[in-house]
Amino acid sequence: MRIRTFDEYQLAYQKSIEDPEEFWAEVAQEFQWRKPWTKTLQWNFNEPNIKWFIGGKLNITENCLDRHLATKGDQPAIIWEPNDPNEAGATLTYRMLHDQVCRFANVLKRNGVVKGDRVCIYMPMVPELAIAVLACARIGAVHSVVFGGFSAQSIADRINDAQCKVVVTADGAYRGNKEIPLKSTVDDALIGCPGVQKVIVLTRTRTPVSMLKGRDIWWEQELKQVTADCPAEEMDAEDMLFILYTSGSTGKPKGVVHTCGGYMVYAAYTFQNVFQYEENQVHFCTADIGWITGHSYIVYGPLACGATSVIFEGTPTYPDNGRFWDITDKLKVNILYTAPTAIRSLMSFGLDKVNNHDLSSLQVLGSVGEPINEEAWHWYDDNIGKNRCPIVDTWWQTETGGILISPLAGITKTKPTYATLPLPGIQPILVDEAGKEIEGNGVSGNLCMKFPWPGILRTTYGDHKRCRQTYFATYPGLYFTGDGCLRDEDGYYRITGRVDDVLNVSGHRIGTAEVENAINMHTGVVESAVVGYPHDIKGQGIYAYVITDQMPADHDADLMKRDILATVTRVIGPIAKPDKIQFVTGLPKTRSGKIMRRILRKIAEGDTNSLGDTSTLLDPAVVDDIKSGAL
Ligand code: WTA
Repeated sequence: MRIRTFDEYQLAYQKSIEDPEEFWAEVAQEFQWRKPWTKTLQWNFNEPNIKWFIGGKLNITENCLDRHLATKGDQPAIIWEPNDPNEAGATLTYRMLHDQVCRFANVLKRNGVVKGDRVCIYMPMVPELAIAVLACARIGAVHSVVFGGFSAQSIADRINDAQCKVVVTADGAYRGNKEIPLKSTVDDALIGCPGVQKVIVLTRTRTPVSMLKGRDIWWEQELKQVTADCPAEEMDAEDMLFILYTSGSTGKPKGVVHTCGGYMVYAAYTFQNVFQYEENQVHFCTADIGWITGHSYIVYGPLACGATSVIFEGTPTYPDNGRFWDITDKLKVNILYTAPTAIRSLMSFGLDKVNNHDLSSLQVLGSVGEPINEEAWHWYDDNIGKNRCPIVDTWWQTETGGILISPLAGITKTKPTYATLPLPGIQPILVDEAGKEIEGNGVSGNLCMKFPWPGILRTTYGDHKRCRQTYFATYPGLYFTGDGCLRDEDGYYRITGRVDDVLNVSGHRIGTAEVENAINMHTGVVESAVVGYPHDIKGQGIYAYVITDQMPADHDADLMKRDILATVTRVIGPIAKPDKIQFVTGLPKTRSGKIMRRILRKIAEGDTNSLGDTSTLLDPAVVDDIKSGAL
């Protein structure tokens, strides 16, 4: 499965197009299957109905853990770096990780979790988070990890949508100089979740927490009751492995479903080839396991390849802005995979903290989550990679399971801001608004995929129709990514950003409708419209236009804004807080009542001279009012 030269890439790509089934069957054969599959692929993009490795039986944890014990039992699987650099970290070898996963899997079983049950995980970035994830996979339970930055309300919505039976959490979390009360947030969430039977609580911060008799139990106590013997559950390749909620253009986040066989093959294949992972390298992905990047490139991809994966609990700027470089130096990191927003933020501090660390262990740099601007790309290349580490700008999505378009490190010639070329098995196509293919090079359009790859989502949990509507109905016969894209003269792809109502704020996906719903819940708010605008560090900032029943007097306006922020934090979480709130008396609507977001975007961008045609508006005067009050 390993590609080592550009010629090999071209050959592999060719083969993957001519005979996809044979291509992926060869890749999949490198894994450990309990029973081989009988048919490699069956698909249509209309229902959609996508199945890979049909009839194959496996357990992903046997591939991520057991398989390595004989040869790599004593090699580090996970290196944990705590929030506070003065606290002792931890190294878990493959043997230790296997042992702990089996033990925790037995804890889950003891508490009534069986194959197919959903388990919500809301935890800090500690090894136990990966252990909980893998323990679910071990017994065939479906994990739904919720990022620690989401509110009680968001947790409750996700728990109820997935009908989770058990929640795994911790007393609290450390992030920078903050202590975050996870368990109390879960307690608030569970007021609205009657289906949850057990809450397993890890001790991390020793914050006082309420522990309800019969429902809440301590991780540490439970571990005393179990052995380390837990045979892996035999799973069908198409059994559900996990659900991960992500934002779309409608108000309610969707539970993206990935299955055992295809996801494993794809996460491992892309990890190996994109990063050109070599034995014994230390891989540091700075994402949170609460996002897809953490699922695929902290947990499953690296472990399936027997790599050493770093789990970092803290933030890039604590205790100071040199923390990534400190970790790189200390752990001799070889592959660093981070987001443009982190790079831009660290850039702004200058080079002092970069230059007093030894970064010579670095061999490959990666970028993910949002378009990387040219300045950040060069800063990363010059100052972190010292112009000797290839940068892989990896484009993909929660729905794709793994990277789809990216250079292969050191193999594909890179070009700043370009994700470059599709990986083997990936067939991108650009279409215009009407769905017509835009052929040739030097063109741009909406990015779609013509053919499935093993890591593609199978459904959205509990609502297959929504999956079809969102991804497969816009352009019949194609998977629509929601991204705009440019293909240059050399056939290189550059992702230009979302073409739907989805924002990308600091690499986090947030739906404008979700934020609007939250703002509209605030007392006195009549209506709101949310758009993105370019933000130097975050990539995009959130700009909210809000109509209230009474225009707040100036001295109240500031307080009302802060109140609205508090409501958004309560409903979604701090990551969705608008950067700017403008109170307005009306919104630019067409005669049919549709908000013309194009105009609002322009004003938010500060580009008020070219608002285009406003004659179709119900009340064109609204625009002047908004312009005059723009922030
Ligand atoms: C954006 C994150 C440009 C894109 C893995 C996509 C990118 C959305 C890149 C998915 C990149 C991700 N260049 N844009 N290298 N990577 N995106 O689901 O808009 O959190 O649709 O998955 O992030 O975000 P998600």
